[in-house]
Formats: sequence, structure tokens, C-alpha cells
Amino acid sequence: MGWQRWHEALAARVSGERLAHCERTALLCREAAAAHPAWGVDPERAALAGLLHDWGRGEGTAEAMLAAAARYGVPVSPAARRRPVALLHAPVGAASLRAAGLVDEEVLTAVALHTVGAAGMGALSLLVYTADFCEPGRTHPGACEVRAVLAADLRAAARLATRYTLEHLLAGGEMVEAGAVALWNDLVRLGEVDG
Ligand SMILES: [Fe+2]
Repeated sequence: MGWQRWHEALAARVSGERLAHCERTALLCREAAAAHPAWGVDPERAALAGLLHDWGRGEGTAEAMLAAAARYGVPVSPAARRRPVALLHAPVGAASLRAAGLVDEEVLTAVALHTVGAAGMGALSLLVYTADFCEPGRTHPGACEVRAVLAADLRAAARLATRYTLEHLLAGGEMVEAGAVALWNDLVRLGEVDG
């Protein structure tokens, strides 16, 4: 199934501003990947992963998200039980996309990891995670700054996005998923290697 069919399928699941966010994320992923061949990310693959990253939002309510997680065998952490839509739409979306016929494992991984993150994320996953944070429609703290950094350095942009996300969660007294801390530690260590 190509871009057009997936776009139609996505538009049947999410609409309005959510669909526009997915389209802007796809465009940013495609442009950034095309501008930086050294990242080793195919621009069309990046665009598809960016487009489909919020596929799981189509489940709708917290109850439906928890039901979908149970259906697909997606583990529900204590943090995800508190905020099911925010934290489960990524892994549920990947499972749902697999069931819908998406076979590209790297794209599925990028979708699954785009909210929380994990240690050892590949460039495609880092790009989707970062583009979701900083696509031009985003207005939250750090979005512009991360977008500017992404124009030059994927890991540095991902690290900055992770810092803003962790700061936001801690300031709000929220739980922090282990994967987010693992990603942060990974990016700090890799930043030291990069210099
Ligand atoms: Fe998302």
C-alpha cells in the first residue's frame, strides 16, 4: 500500500488538526531526511513514518485505547494507566498498523517509540520522535529551538526535545516512563562521543 492509500486510511481515523499535524510531521521528516543523506534515512520512508505516527490516536477514548492495548497484547505501565491515550497511542498504533498490513519493521518501530522513546533508537525513529515534537504547527516551549537544531544535528535535536519533555513531565508532577530516561541517557552518552 502506497502513500495515497495510507493517507486515505489515516484520514478515515483522524481528522482536522490531528491530520494536519500528521501531514506536517511527514513533510518535516521527508525534508530533513532528504537534506541529510548522512543520516541514512530514506526520505519517503521517513515521510510515511511521520504521516502514520499518530495512527493510534484513531482509537479515541482512554477506554478504547486500553481495550486496544489488551487486544494487541501491548503492555500497560503504571504511567500509561494514568494517561492511556497519551502513552499508548504509539505502541497501539504500531500494532494496529501491522494488523492493517504495514510490513516495514523500521516504520512500525518508529511509530511505536515516537512518544516515550527508548535506548538505541535508530535514525528513522529519532527523526519521527523529534519531528513530532517540533513540526511547524507546534507552539509548546522548545519547538522552534528544536526545529532549528534539527536542521543541522538529529541527535542534538532529539536530546533537546527529550530534555523539554522530561522537564515538562517533572514540572507537572507526572510519572516518567523508563524508556524516556533510557533515551535521555543514551543521547547524553552519544553527545559526549560526538563531542
Ligand atoms: Fe503521537
